[in-house]
Amino acid sequence: MSRINENFLKLPGSYLFSTVGRKVREYQEANPDKRIIRLGIGDVTLPLPPAVIGALHAAVDEMSVQDTFRGYAPDLGYEFLRSAIAEHDFKSRGVDISIEEVFVSDGAKSDSANIQEIFSADAKIAVCDPVYPVYVDSNVMAGRTGIYDIAAGRWSNVIYMPCTAENGFIPDLPQQVPDLIYLCFPNNPTGAALKKEQLQNWVDYANRNKAVIVFDAAYEAYISQADVPHSIYECEGAKTCAVELRSFSKNAGFTGTRLAYTIVPKELVVDGVALCGLWARRHGTKFNGAPYIIQKAGEAVYSEEGKKQVAEMVGYYMNNAKVILDGLKAAGYTVSGGVDSPYVWLKTPKGMGSWEFFDYLLEQANVVGTPGAGFGPSGEGYFRLTGFGSYDNTAEAIERIRRLV
Ligand code: MLT
Repeated sequence: MSRINENFLKLPGSYLFSTVGRKVREYQEANPDKRIIRLGIGDVTLPLPPAVIGALHAAVDEMSVQDTFRGYAPDLGYEFLRSAIAEHDFKSRGVDISIEEVFVSDGAKSDSANIQEIFSADAKIAVCDPVYPVYVDSNVMAGRTGIYDIAAGRWSNVIYMPCTAENGFIPDLPQQVPDLIYLCFPNNPTGAALKKEQLQNWVDYANRNKAVIVFDAAYEAYISQADVPHSIYECEGAKTCAVELRSFSKNAGFTGTRLAYTIVPKELVVDGVALCGLWARRHGTKFNGAPYIIQKAGEAVYSEEGKKQVAEMVGYYMNNAKVILDGLKAAGYTVSGGVDSPYVWLKTPKGMGSWEFFDYLLEQANVVGTPGAGFGPSGEGYFRLTGFGSYDNTAEAIERIRRLV
């Protein structure tokens, strides 16, 4: 008799962005005349940059010719992309990463969900609270998180690291020592960024305690301050304690095209085993490589014109984030983020709950954001807006919100 993985039954409700999507659909169906502005999920809206489109076209043409047609991609990624990544994302910042340490994939969401597989079933995880839900849910599915306390919104076997206004949305080092520490900086959802010395503290803590940091740097392109590191490997000793996740989604607009990579340094050894080899083994078994045409598109991101066009896109979204930040401040909201991040984190007005404010904004302003409570208990009373909309929609959304007060 077959049995299901009962850990899946422990998952509360549906995935955050599915719930948000359903609520918005229902509202739109009931109110077809309303023009809803979506600043909820962090999905990009600008088209892919011309350099990327050019590379895609050329790669598609190659696939139509016998001599240049490609079948399965190398499962760890084409060398042309892995070396462009090592050169442009790391060497340019003084970090030496070899191409064997670069693992190309179809998304940082899947990498962040899959990485836990190479750790022991009883590994204790620590997450920021609020947190990108994938880190927790993927560990729930693996049976690591214990029992869910609905009232507290917490799992019994997870170490939560509250990120609150009091600590500037930067987590304190946990008292109880975890095996696996998930850090996302610049942070989703709060938009907070870690300065180099703060990240160095985490690296030292992990090395001291033989913990591994899963460092999600999906938003590094949005860093504007000089003392904020783009990669954890800018910190001394990070190669012996950290893997790093990167994405082409948020910088170059690949949310629908799917491309990302993970760095697993050769020096990272757990239980006497190099994680680089384990991850390669897992990747080789479960993944047949990102498509050639998409990896060629990724390579174009690092061309001179690609870099310029990507910087313009990031600048466009950051201007939106500034419009949100400044507009809400002027309207009397308490806001943060939006400086090294496309996300703006705001305190809900008049003590409203996060979901209450979500409904209020949807119904009164026809603007969609993401309720902070959906990211964890410390997100209650907060709300996230993204800079990834169009400029016109963003400006109009803020005007509509300002008119409410
Ligand atoms: C978000 O809105 O938090 C992100 O778009 C989710 C993701 O990148 O998967």
